[in-house]
Amino acid sequence: MNLHPADKTAFVVGNGALRHWKGASVNATATFQCGRLKRRSLRPARSGGATHLSSQESGATNTVREQGQLTSAPGKTQSLSAFDRRSWELAHGDMNEEDSYVLDLPDLPHDLVGTLYRNGPSKFTIGSRRMLHPWEGDGAVAAFTLRGDGTVWFRNRFVRTEGYLKERRAGYQLYRGTFATPLPGGILTNAFRLEQKNLANTNVIYHANQLLALYEGGLPYELRPDTLETKGVFRLGGTLTGPMPMFTAHPHVDPLRRGRLVGFSSRMHLNGLRIRFLEFASENWKLCSERTVDIDGFGFFHDFMITQRYYILLQAPLRFHPLPFVLGLKCPGECITWEGDRMPTRLLLIPRDDPGAPVREVLSETCTAFHFVNAYDDDDDDDDAVVLDACRMDRLFLGETRRHRNGLSRTQRVVEAVDFGTQVPKCSLWRCRIPTRSGSGTQRATWREVNTTHVDFPVVNPSRLTQPYRYVYMGASALGTEPGPLKNIIKVDADTGQTLATWQPPSVYEFAGEPVFAPRLIEPDKESAEDDGYILSVVSDGLHRSTYLVILDASDLKLVCKVPLRTFLPMGLHGTWTAQVFQPQPKRRTVQDLFESKNWNEVDSSLPLFRF
Ligand SMILES: [Fe+2]
Repeated sequence: MNLHPADKTAFVVGNGALRHWKGASVNATATFQCGRLKRRSLRPARSGGATHLSSQESGATNTVREQGQLTSAPGKTQSLSAFDRRSWELAHGDMNEEDSYVLDLPDLPHDLVGTLYRNGPSKFTIGSRRMLHPWEGDGAVAAFTLRGDGTVWFRNRFVRTEGYLKERRAGYQLYRGTFATPLPGGILTNAFRLEQKNLANTNVIYHANQLLALYEGGLPYELRPDTLETKGVFRLGGTLTGPMPMFTAHPHVDPLRRGRLVGFSSRMHLNGLRIRFLEFASENWKLCSERTVDIDGFGFFHDFMITQRYYILLQAPLRFHPLPFVLGLKCPGECITWEGDRMPTRLLLIPRDDPGAPVREVLSETCTAFHFVNAYDDDDDDDDAVVLDACRMDRLFLGETRRHRNGLSRTQRVVEAVDFGTQVPKCSLWRCRIPTRSGSGTQRATWREVNTTHVDFPVVNPSRLTQPYRYVYMGASALGTEPGPLKNIIKVDADTGQTLATWQPPSVYEFAGEPVFAPRLIEPDKESAEDDGYILSVVSDGLHRSTYLVILDASDLKLVCKVPLRTFLPMGLHGTWTAQVFQPQPKRRTVQDLFESKNWNEVDSSLPLFRF
């Protein structure tokens, strides 16, 4: 939806009386647009179960039995399931509003105090051009500050990356997509255009009082943690220098080393990759430890894991063929091929504390993983090993558009073209045991499938990272054990494999994003159970363009509260929780905002002037 140019300058100028909206009270605000005072309409309650906002409902059972049918490849019928395919496709649409408002919700728990940040691809339209892959959208960060007083301060903003600003000012696509979307004009316009846009769309972390939007193909972007304004690229305290530096989108915080942030930076090497592992102090960006290793061959290291002894990488059997990318024939992601029948999967254990200790390579059965759950050293007995839990797949699938299957022109988005039944590999929770004691003969890692549900986006209580643990929370397929859109949230016992609890959004149109664990606010020095806290997830309904934050009890995934937004957020990727609380500040439009608005006709930047 493009807004009329007259809507470019929108300011929230006040707040009206509280209104009750199906059990949830929200602040009604007025929007002033180009000299006209207009009441911002509150979205009406809907029928049909699409958006149940009553805090009375139980999310533990799916009360809607309307069946959605998968639109699959011609001639193939997939099983009926309780989700609406079109709503899922539309949930990967554009975010058109930047907002900031406070919601009053009496049901909010008072022992949940802090801020949830979430990042995700949120703008897929550049002029008349649509980006075709769900990971190719410009990043936008949403923030929910819960103050323990029954209020939530919500705000969302696009990350003003260099590429984002250039394209919005130009009004057309300037960069080749990474996975599916070439520049218009064929080979002539794509050949030798190698620069990729830093989308800043994958993850967001809060570390050393700084908020960073992460994208593994470039530098982090620093944002103001209160207003989400973009401050610029951040070189991690001067650590990342040189041409085309990058930082992983999945750094991890080590709770046993006073909250160190552990991540890595990589760059292409003559015959492989040079990877530099970095550990930063919790209170600043002082580099506590670093180690550089060279890895033979190609690596697609979206995530990694740490124990107290090792950095762990899973090197899948992949090759990258650069020539089609250089010549403008394919996007770089399309130049990656799966070589599972000719190459092994290798697990690489890089000692953390001994720079001279060699990298340990352990062969594994053929597999890969986007995301790891947790890892820890198991060196108490003769069977010295590392335990690594992962959402494991048997092969890599990066999404395809229809052109690559039947030769049609590439105009269909990946979310519209994907066939879950034939294309998407099963992804489930596996436990891997990696031997770490040198011995005779070739040592191999052993895998065991812990739970058969199709899942991804795993999270554990952050205080249990690098240690034996029990509970993992994951996004789960609408089709249970079959590959399908992630819709539900499950809690699994990582030792027994039992699914302990499930939360399903109450309608077929709603899809839950990554679960984030937020510990309950407790008295200092008081012990808490591993699952004593809350699970937070942003739920998107693409068909009705509605979004809410769901708050679940981490012990049983029972619904605690929903926070309905007036802003549509598309399906996101990763987020983080911090105990930091930020106060809404009076905000005026900046010179940069006004400058951007000269060519801005797609986003309603509703910047608040007054609060409460
Ligand atoms: Fe990820």
